[in-house]
Amino acid sequence: MEIKKIAVLGAGQMGNGIAHVCAQAGYEVKMRDIEQRFLDKGMATIKKNLERGLKKGKTTEEEIEATLGRIDGVLDLEEAVKEADLVIEAIPEVVQLKLDTWKEVDGLAPPHAILASNTSSISITQMAAVTNRPEKFIGMHFFNPVPVMRLVEIIKGQATADETVEVIRRVSERLGKQTVLVNEAPGFAVNRLLVPAINEAIFAVQEGVATVEDMDLAIKLGLNWPMGPLTLADFVGLDTLLYISDYFVDEFKDSKYRAPALLRKMVRAGWLGRKAGRGFYDYSGDEPKPMRF
Ligand code: 3HC
Repeated sequence: MEIKKIAVLGAGQMGNGIAHVCAQAGYEVKMRDIEQRFLDKGMATIKKNLERGLKKGKTTEEEIEATLGRIDGVLDLEEAVKEADLVIEAIPEVVQLKLDTWKEVDGLAPPHAILASNTSSISITQMAAVTNRPEKFIGMHFFNPVPVMRLVEIIKGQATADETVEVIRRVSERLGKQTVLVNEAPGFAVNRLLVPAINEAIFAVQEGVATVEDMDLAIKLGLNWPMGPLTLADFVGLDTLLYISDYFVDEFKDSKYRAPALLRKMVRAGWLGRKAGRGFYDYSGDEPKPMRF
């Protein structure tokens, strides 16, 4: 089966990144969101990120125009998916929203189309079960920022066919990504490690072991991480981290995954990280300023 047309649901942080790499690889892309302002913001981000390569001579104006020309922003779900060979969903991590969307998409997309979710934790099997094509349903987990990060985790649900895995492996490779195949389990491979690691850094700050900036510096220089864990927490979004931690506790029934009280308080205060202008750092000035707890 050859994939030519891809529908990306959601023009947010992950959705616009996925649309970007798909269009760059030559696929015809429909990027769908529920309001024009989200589409405009997503397209502006793609343009800005594509232009990063201009000064360095890694891309040309013509290539950028051609890539942008392959992305069609749409509001109507039917228009987005009716001719798609592959639908990649990157909408908010709300179980009911995902289930309702997939039920609708299943009725609108062509029967041959593969359905892929970019969820960071929700069960692929549960989403597949609301469609009439669970063998064509799969997890395709990208990492932020999508154009830079080289991994796609491919997640096989209970009913996913081997052929679906192979098609998604080929598409991911064409996007310039390496893949790992993961059997469904909460958090798959990467978030199972990442989320407890970031939580431990937050526990350490909460207990006064080190300041925010020292904890970040320790891990950045001591473990060669590109960003310290608290900077990364702000980058991923504190609401996302809390959601995944709570989901882990529900699914594994193991308190070792519990979220630190400080994380929960920050989310309740609306300090969600970089996107909210405040998290473990304050982003209102020229340079991020570490918070004191
Ligand atoms: N889009 C496109 N390109 C981007 C970009 C973006 N949003 N952000 C950075 N880049 C490019 C730059 O243009 C530059 O390109 P070049 O190598 O061709 O010159 C390159 O990436 C490096 O960028 P910078 O020099 O500006 O900055 P850094 O060296 O500090 O790198 C970073 C930035 C790539 C974000 C790096 O800090 C990093 O890798 N951080 C960790 C990111 C990470 O761990 N992501 C995973 C999060 S977990 C997740 O997504 C899963 C979810 O389910 C929770």
